[in-house]
Amino acid sequence: MPGAPHPVLERYYAGEAERQRFVVALFDGAARHYDEVCRLMSLGSGQWYRRRALERAGLRPGMRLLDVATGTGLVARSAARILGDARAVVGLDPSGGMLREARKRLAAPLVQGRGEHLPFASERFDLVTLGYALRHVADLEVAFRECFRVLRPGGRLLVLEISSAPSAARRGALRLYLTQVLPLVMALRTRNRHARMLTRYYWDTIAACVPPAAILDALREAGFADPARHVVAGTFSEYLATRPGQRSDMAAGEMPRSP
Ligand SMILES: C[S@@+](CC[C@H](N)C(=O)[O-])C[C@H]1O[C@@H](n2cnc3c(N)ncnc32)[C@H](O)[C@@H]1O
Repeated sequence: MPGAPHPVLERYYAGEAERQRFVVALFDGAARHYDEVCRLMSLGSGQWYRRRALERAGLRPGMRLLDVATGTGLVARSAARILGDARAVVGLDPSGGMLREARKRLAAPLVQGRGEHLPFASERFDLVTLGYALRHVADLEVAFRECFRVLRPGGRLLVLEISSAPSAARRGALRLYLTQVLPLVMALRTRNRHARMLTRYYWDTIAACVPPAAILDALREAGFADPARHVVAGTFSEYLATRPGQRSDMAAGEMPRSP
């Protein structure tokens, strides 16, 4: 499918039409253990890193943020801390299980939906984030266009992603950790098959993902100006892209359209 972030992975689902159902079921099933998977995956640095990335993207009090693919709210929670107000953040995710976990720790409005069809009026947000979910959307350009639409002119999109490491040794180490070590640790700690499968699926989608240049091209095609990629520790990619134009003022306290 043109614009898909990676080809169909037949080991997990039969065709493009089944991909979203598979992904949502996977996250629904792993939701209770997701934060622990993340902690182990990032060796405990995940929240610190998300906060630094948001600061690098220019997030500051007074702004309004949409966190697409919010999951259990890890990016949204960091954003709410920076903004000093959880109501300045809106989280969106298709997985009811992930949203239920998010609700336990986050007072922000949460909406069930997909990045490819955002249920919000145009030009509502100063920053849109897409954290570790680019590999799960059906079409990159469609999702990026939606992010563009809901950003105010001058607003920014921050995409966080894990990329396959450029050196063979690092790639091998990442693969071993995600496909062998973490599934074993998760099996011992949770006995949850979705949590075990999540890290394997993670690696398979990372390995099959289109290269960073294609992601930058899709951002340009969606209308963003000068998208750039900043790489941390060889594998953590931050894509930052700006919607061109000047802010035409928004009414204070506007809320997203209901789905
Ligand atoms: C790896 S989690 C990332 C959660 C969070 N952003 C973080 O930083 O930890 C990926 C999330 O993407 C969501 N997702 C899957 N397909 C999606 C889509 N089409 N649009 C938006 N989110 C999607 C999943 O339900 C899951 O919660």
